[in-house]
Amino acid sequence: VWMETYGCQMNKAESESILIALTEAGWAEGSATDADLVILNTCSVRETAEERIRGRLGYYRHQKQHRPLTLVLTGCMAERLKAKVLDEHPEVDVVVGTFSKKELLAAVQSSEERRASVVAAADAEYSFAHLHSSRGTKAFVPIMHGCDNWCTYCIVPSVRGREVSRSPDEIIAEVTALSHRGVKEITLLGQNVNSYSWSADGRSILFPDLLREVEAQAGSVQWLRFLTSHPKDLSDRLLRVIAESRILCRHIHLPLQSGSTRILGLMNRGYTAELYREKVRAIRSALTDASITTDILIGFPGESEKDFAETLAMMAEIGFDDAFTYHYNPREGTRAFDMPDAIPPGVKRERLDRVIEAQRSIGSHKASERIGREVDVLVEGISKKDSGELLARTAWDAMVVFRGNPERIGSFARVRLSSLAGNTFRAEALA
Ligand code: SAM
Ligand code: SF4
Ligand code: F3S
Repeated sequence: VWMETYGCQMNKAESESILIALTEAGWAEGSATDADLVILNTCSVRETAEERIRGRLGYYRHQKQHRPLTLVLTGCMAERLKAKVLDEHPEVDVVVGTFSKKELLAAVQSSEERRASVVAAADAEYSFAHLHSSRGTKAFVPIMHGCDNWCTYCIVPSVRGREVSRSPDEIIAEVTALSHRGVKEITLLGQNVNSYSWSADGRSILFPDLLREVEAQAGSVQWLRFLTSHPKDLSDRLLRVIAESRILCRHIHLPLQSGSTRILGLMNRGYTAELYREKVRAIRSALTDASITTDILIGFPGESEKDFAETLAMMAEIGFDDAFTYHYNPREGTRAFDMPDAIPPGVKRERLDRVIEAQRSIGSHKASERIGREVDVLVEGISKKDSGELLARTAWDAMVVFRGNPERIGSFARVRLSSLAGNTFRAEALA
C-alpha cells in the first residue's frame, strides 16, 4: 500500500491510523510505482490542494495502463464530491468519505470486481481510531472532530461535520500507549481545541481539565502541544494551566485571519481586532517568553486597501513568530462564495506578496532576539543541507541545526542558538 496525504495535521494523523489498520490486516508499505493499493487522503480547503490531487489522479491513471492497482480517494475532497468522483475520474476505484474511514479496508476488499462509493449520511456519527501513530518520537492525537464555527470562507464544517469531542478516557489511553513506545512530543488536535467539551455520568471536562489529565498520565512525553486555538474561545484558565505545567510548550497558534474588525465580521470569526489584541496581552502576561504564530487570510471579498493596511499594522504590532499566509479562495457551498466585491487575482497576489515580505522581516527580527539563548531542542533527524548536522526543533517549533552525533536523533539536546539563516537557527551543542 502507498498513501499520499494532503491538508492538515488531522489528515496526517488519520492517514497513520489507516496505515496501522492496513498493516494489521497484512498489508506492507510499497511505493507510488509498485503498490497494489494507492490511497489519496485529500484536502478541499483551497482549490490549489484539489488541483494537485487531480494531477496525482492523472499520474495514477497512467500507471494503471501498465500495472494493476486499486486507487482509493478518501478525506475531505472525497467527502465534498462523493460518488461524483467515480463519474469524473474513471481511474478511481473506491471513494471513502470522512465518516467512513474505518470502512476503508472492507470497501477495498469488496471492490475487487466493482467500483464503490462509501460515503455516510450527513448526520453520521464520527468515531475516532484508537491509535494515530506507530513510529517516531512525535505524535498527533485528535481530541475533536468537525467544526461549528462556520467561518464564511471555510469548507471544513461542510466536509468534517459538526464538532464532537473525543472521550477523555480514549485520549488518555492513546497517550499512554504512545508514551509506552517512548514518544517524546504529543500534539493534541482539533479545529478549535478551546471549545473541547465532554460530559457523561456526572463528569464534565473542558479543555484545561483535559490538559491536566493528559499531563498526569504523560509518562515519557516531555512536550505537549495543541492545535488550533480559536481566539474567541481562548480562556484565562487555559493560560493558567499552561503557566503551571511542566510539559506544555509555551507556543500558541492563534489564527488572526484579518486585522480589520469589519472583515472579521464578514468572515464570521466571532472576535474584533481589539479582542484579539486583548488575548495576546493575556498570553504574554501569563506566559513569559511565549511564541505566537498565526494564519493570515488576505483578499477576502470587500477587503479594501485600508482593511489590508490594518492587517499589516496588526502583524507588526503583535510581532508574530511565524505566520501561514493565504489568499482567499472561493469555495462552493460556503457563505462567502456569493459575496460581492471579489478582489481581483492580481491584487490578491500583490497583497499576499506584501504580507509574506512583512512577516519575513517581523519573524527574523523576533528570531534574532533569541540568539545567544540556551534552549532544549528535540532532535528529529539529519539536516538535508549538511549530513554532518542534526535537525531539531525548539519548544516554540522553530528549526535548529547543529553539529552532533546521529545517535541523538529522537532525544532532547541542550544547545546555544548562535546565528540565523532564513528561519533556521544554527546552534552549538552544550555538554
Ligand atoms: N480551524 C483553524 C482556525 O480556525 O484557525 C483553521 C483550519 S483551516 C484548515 C487553516 C487555514 O486555512 C485557515 O486558518 C485559513 O487561513 C485558511 N483557509 C480556510 N479557508 C480558506 C479559503 N477558502 N481560502 C484560502 N484559505 C483558506
Ligand atoms: Fe474553518 Fe473557521 Fe472552523 Fe477553522 S474555525 S475550521 S477556519 S470554520
Ligand atoms: Fe483540508 Fe480537510 Fe484539513 S479540508 S485542511 S484536510 S480538515
